[in-house]
Amino acid sequence: MQIFIDSAKEKEILHWLRQGVVDGATTNPTIMLKDGVYDLEGVAKRLCSLLGDRPLSIEVTSNDQEEMLKQARTFATWGPNVVVKIPVVNEFGDSSLGVISDLTSEGIRVNATAILSFNQAVLATKAGATYASIFSGRIADEGNDPTETIRNVRHWLNQWDYTAKIIVGSVRTVMDIQNAALAGAHIITVPPPFFAKMIDHKYTRDTVRQFNRDAEKALQEIAVAQATGVLSNGSNGKD
Ligand code: E4P
Repeated sequence: MQIFIDSAKEKEILHWLRQGVVDGATTNPTIMLKDGVYDLEGVAKRLCSLLGDRPLSIEVTSNDQEEMLKQARTFATWGPNVVVKIPVVNEFGDSSLGVISDLTSEGIRVNATAILSFNQAVLATKAGATYASIFSGRIADEGNDPTETIRNVRHWLNQWDYTAKIIVGSVRTVMDIQNAALAGAHIITVPPPFFAKMIDHKYTRDTVRQFNRDAEKALQEIAVAQATGVLSNGSNGKD
C-alpha cells in the first residue's frame, strides 16, 4: 500500500518525504487556498521536483469540458510526474468521463476525483483513469460506510484485472486511515497533521522515557563501580 500526502505545503511534504513514508502527493483547489498557493505553476513545478518520480495530483478548476482539457494539458507540461485530477462530474452533474478518456488516450494520467459511490468508481475506471479517489469522510458525512465502498471497488478491480488504483482521500480521523488500509485501499492520501498522530503514542513516550532513565542509571552505576574498582570486565558484578 502507498501513502500520499494531501498537501501543497513544500515544508510539510519535504518533512514527511524525509521520513521515508511518502509515495506521492495530492492537492485540490481547497488545499491550494488553505496552503496559500497563489502561483499554481511555480508551486506545482517545485513540488514536482521535490517529489522526484512520485506523482503529484493537480485538479482542474472548471465546469467546462474544453477548459478542463486545456488546463489538464497545461498541467501535464509542468512535470513528468503530474497527474491531473478530474472530478467525475461537474457541479451540474455533467459527466467528465469523456475528458478522462481523452486525456488517458493522450498519455496524461488521470486521478478521477470526488468519487462517492461504487458506480462512479466503476465508470471512472472504464474511462481509463489511473487513480480513482474515493472520498471516505464525505461518504461518511452522508451516513454511509466508506469501508464498504472501498472494499467493493477493490474487489471489483481485482475480479476484472483492472489496473486502476484506489486512492482514499477525505481523511477526517486517524481511524479512517486504518479502516481504509484494511478495506483494501491501494493508496491513502493523508493530511500532514495525521502523520504525527499516526506515529505518536503516549505510552510509547512513557516506555522510551523509562528506558532512557534506566540507561542513565546504569551508566551512573557503571561509573561508580569503575571508580571504586568493582568493575573491571564490563560486568556490573551483580550476576
Ligand atoms: C484528496 O485527493 C482529496 O481532494 C481530499 O482528501 C478531500 O478532502 P476533504 O473531503 O476533506 O475536502
